[in-house]
Amino acid sequence: MSGPLSPNETVVIFGERGWPATRPDERRVRLDSTGFKRADEECWKRALAGAVRTAGSRLVKRVAIIGGGEAGSALYDAFSEFGFPTTLGEHHLEKHPEAVPTEDAAARCEVVILAVPTESLSEVLERVDFQDKIVIDVTNPGGPQLTHTPPSGYRSNGEFVEKHARGARAVFKCFNAMGCPNFTNPVAYPSGIRKDLYICGTDGPDKDWLVTVCRQAFGFNATDVGGIDVAHLVEQNGNFWMLLAKGPANKGVNFGFTTVE
Ligand SMILES: NC(=O)c1ccc[n+]([C@@H]2O[C@H](COP(=O)([O-])OP(=O)(O)OC[C@H]3O[C@@H](n4cnc5c(N)ncnc54)[C@H](OP(=O)(O)O)[C@@H]3O)[C@@H](O)[C@H]2O)c1
Repeated sequence: MSGPLSPNETVVIFGERGWPATRPDERRVRLDSTGFKRADEECWKRALAGAVRTAGSRLVKRVAIIGGGEAGSALYDAFSEFGFPTTLGEHHLEKHPEAVPTEDAAARCEVVILAVPTESLSEVLERVDFQDKIVIDVTNPGGPQLTHTPPSGYRSNGEFVEKHARGARAVFKCFNAMGCPNFTNPVAYPSGIRKDLYICGTDGPDKDWLVTVCRQAFGFNATDVGGIDVAHLVEQNGNFWMLLAKGPANKGVNFGFTTVE
């Protein structure tokens, strides 16, 4: 796209091979606070789909999302939009006509994302065969009122999942330290600062894949912070996000964290 920018336009920068940006080749139109968000999302979706296409089959895997609530449906929309074959697994199918039973969704896919409340983790872990699956746990033990704790005897939901996801080849904690509106809004406006996303879990090629997906498809400043033994800290970060969003600070749900040096 060429030509001078008009006063109500601003450039979204992304590279031919995804992020980080190397050249300005797209622009988004700023309308008003609501209109801007719409234009912004549309633009990101096109950009992200392009990044996934560029990465090709190396990046794309079949993804099952277990739990079609706020977090699960946002991840379902995002992964689908980025070109990943995505299946939703639920227990109350009458409420989710697009979903299939949890165990069927997981059986079809290489990646299983757990987006259920903490108190449902045991049932899902019991029901699903995780043999050779990549498991991504997005749960926070705090719950909406920050009143819940991890399952008894565990420091974190992540360690509980790793222990009980029988046969899983890799287990990660990811996507938990931000509200779901951020999943398709990786860059803060108007600063242009990319939001952080923290990943911990099994080292190896599956972690490399997840970090790449979070950077190139989702567009986050994705950082590997260690093994699943640090999941309790990553989950506390999620709970702290919730405190900032809904507690006395009342920051709302659209902010993310960033690190500066
Ligand atoms: N909401 C966010 O922005 C956000 C962001 C990051 C992380 N998280 C974390 O993600 C988890 C889910 O949060 P949420 O806000 O999406 O909760 P939610 O809106 O209550 O959704 C949970 C979904 O999981 C389903 N579910 C419950 N038990 C299940 C089971 N045994 N098998 C299959 N599906 C089951 C529920 O179905 P029914 O309602 O029919 O029981 C519901 O559709 C929490 O741990 C939360 O901390 C949330």
